[in-house]
Amino acid sequence: MQKNQVASILSTLTLEEKASLLSGADFWSTVAIERAGVPSIAVSDGPHGVRKQATGGDHLGLLSGEPATCFPPATGLGSSWDSELIERVGRALGQEALALNVSVLLGPGINIKRDPRCGRNFEYLSEDPLHAGVLGGALVRGIQSRGVGASVKHFAANNQETDRMRVSAEVDERTLRELYFPAFRRIVHEESPWTVMCSYNRINGVFASEDRWLLTEVLREDWGFDGLVVSDWGAVSNRPAALAAGLDLEMPTTGGRTDAEVVAAVRAGTLPEDVLNASAARVIELALRGVENRRPETSIDVDAHHALAREAAAASVVLLRNEGGILPLPTDSGSLAVIGEFARTPRYQGSGSSQIVPTRLDNALDEIRALAPTLEVSFAAGFRLDGTRDAGLTAEAITAAAEAETVLYFCGLPDAAESEGFDRADIDLPADQLGLLAELLRVNPRVIVVLSNGGVVRLSPWSGTVPALLEGWLLGQAGGGALADVIFGRVNPSGRLAETIPERLCDVPAYTNFPGEQGRVHYGEGLYVGYRHYDTRDAAVAYPFGFGLSYTTFSYGEPTVRVEGDRVVIDLDVTNTGERDGREIVQVYTGLDGAAVSRPVHELRAFSAVAIAAGQTARVSLGFAVRDLAYYHVDAGAWVVEPGTYRVEVGASSRDLRHVSTVAIAGDANPARLSGDSTLSEWFSDPVGGPILQAALTAQGEGGAAMGGALGDPEMAKMAEQMPLRLLVTFGAVDSAQIDALIAAVDAAR
Ligand code: BGC
Repeated sequence: MQKNQVASILSTLTLEEKASLLSGADFWSTVAIERAGVPSIAVSDGPHGVRKQATGGDHLGLLSGEPATCFPPATGLGSSWDSELIERVGRALGQEALALNVSVLLGPGINIKRDPRCGRNFEYLSEDPLHAGVLGGALVRGIQSRGVGASVKHFAANNQETDRMRVSAEVDERTLRELYFPAFRRIVHEESPWTVMCSYNRINGVFASEDRWLLTEVLREDWGFDGLVVSDWGAVSNRPAALAAGLDLEMPTTGGRTDAEVVAAVRAGTLPEDVLNASAARVIELALRGVENRRPETSIDVDAHHALAREAAAASVVLLRNEGGILPLPTDSGSLAVIGEFARTPRYQGSGSSQIVPTRLDNALDEIRALAPTLEVSFAAGFRLDGTRDAGLTAEAITAAAEAETVLYFCGLPDAAESEGFDRADIDLPADQLGLLAELLRVNPRVIVVLSNGGVVRLSPWSGTVPALLEGWLLGQAGGGALADVIFGRVNPSGRLAETIPERLCDVPAYTNFPGEQGRVHYGEGLYVGYRHYDTRDAAVAYPFGFGLSYTTFSYGEPTVRVEGDRVVIDLDVTNTGERDGREIVQVYTGLDGAAVSRPVHELRAFSAVAIAAGQTARVSLGFAVRDLAYYHVDAGAWVVEPGTYRVEVGASSRDLRHVSTVAIAGDANPARLSGDSTLSEWFSDPVGGPILQAALTAQGEGGAAMGGALGDPEMAKMAEQMPLRLLVTFGAVDSAQIDALIAAVDAAR
């Protein structure tokens, strides 16, 4: 498809036809204009499977669709920290989309997990923007490698479900640029996603769909995005304003209502036709691209995709605790009581628009029995998913636990506890399930807990009472088999937390600022989300970001850290010191002590998933761009790498840093322009301004000399540091013309 093909089609369209392209034909497809050669393409949720719905179907998962492989949702995939694996999942998703004639898959969701209560955290990858950007990028790469577009969503600052269609996220620009935007920016830069989906919410009072700064200045002009911006479903409140802001395609259909508004605005001269033309061209381009890549003959190997779903699910499981190496369990000795309804009725995905109709569904109980056919395995449901008490179920579970050597207790959050569309009020497991856990432990101390939950749950009151704890998230259709693989050691767990598990909900940085009130949510914690908060404050957590155990152990050799061109490169040896093959997730964090602006004590800069055979050593090479060290200077509107000696920490979690090195970075000049309002400290610490001011004061007569002298006195100097330069006029050291001359001299010398 050529740009000039798009242009020539566009030139044949009437104003009304062009406007008609700017909203959907129905719920899931774009408008065709056959006489002009504009085809229609289908889009579909996503993101962890293809949720192809009948035309006109709903978008909140109320109706069912065609079967497709249900891979682990983002909460699981994110915990794998494995971009190669996620890219393979992306390829499989792309292939299934082709087979179902879907041209754009509506995902991945890469919003930052700001608070564990967000009902949709199961659909998001991480509390860290690098992690979300790298892994989200891998998914996009995989999907798009098949000729299917991705839709990176929800842009931006959509970090809660409460009031999500109206709420204004009140976030300062630096926090947006450094925390909520970078995953989007990375994917735009590296993967050229076909589309970006704007969110429902407002940002600082402006609907994302109508935010020209967001959709045009940041996304297109700063980042160079050249794909199409689609609205979240129903996210447009004022269509002409949204179009002018850079929102190309409104979804779903509005039955022509908003197309007519666009036509009227163009006719009234309030909306330039060029703006409409640009968006219509993008819709045509997307449709042609979709059609060009159609492969109706594509078939799906359902078994192979199920196997991939199982591999991905197993890589997503995080082993949080394993006292005395109780796991993995032997398949040929002992007896096992499998307790908990989730073992038989898996919770494998979240509710809402991302719900997939799976091609098949494993449950852990059957898979445990299949992997250990000679083992004595009893089952008791123990509790009801709706939380109603049933004394008979409790008694039956206690008896089963008492009679078995080991108990596998499958507990977690039922569907009703978390979903798209609402947030959780707490992060506790249901009380009845916790009550049963205490009862089980009374009759059998060997209780291994297996969790199913989308967002994190509180573990600290009880996790120390059980010998082993597996965080099983929501693992997709093959999660049951994957859990059995991990339990029996067919897979050595290597998942790591992509979200800190707090000690208590009230420790969470956004605790008092979530979900906001009267239409606004104040992001008062700023940059300090997740480990950025806990680690900077050295606050207790239940399990830190990046944490996860393995059935083997790894030792880290001394890293070498060097600047190579525009990158910082870290090399080290990692040795598998145990007796099982395993996979380690090596993490690199950086920090700058005494930074000029408030910064987290450290931030993730690189990571790598490395498979290492038992007893073997692997050379691991990681790196990041020097520019990644930059902070956003709001006044100057620029990214600044502060010169200095940065800590480079290599470790196995944000709290398990095995080696700390340093690297000297030349950095950028301070971009702030010196003025009369700049303080003496700002003047003197500036490499250009300092000497110029000093020279001027020295050359000055009495007043200047006195001032110069006073500044030489340490106590006076300390006091004067905070004084704006213009006050020197008041104190008679210089006159205003001299201040103007100083500023001009500095500007000229830069
Ligand atoms: C969700 C999107 C989804 C869309 C279409 C919206 O409610 O926020 O993530 O892609 O519906 O189903």
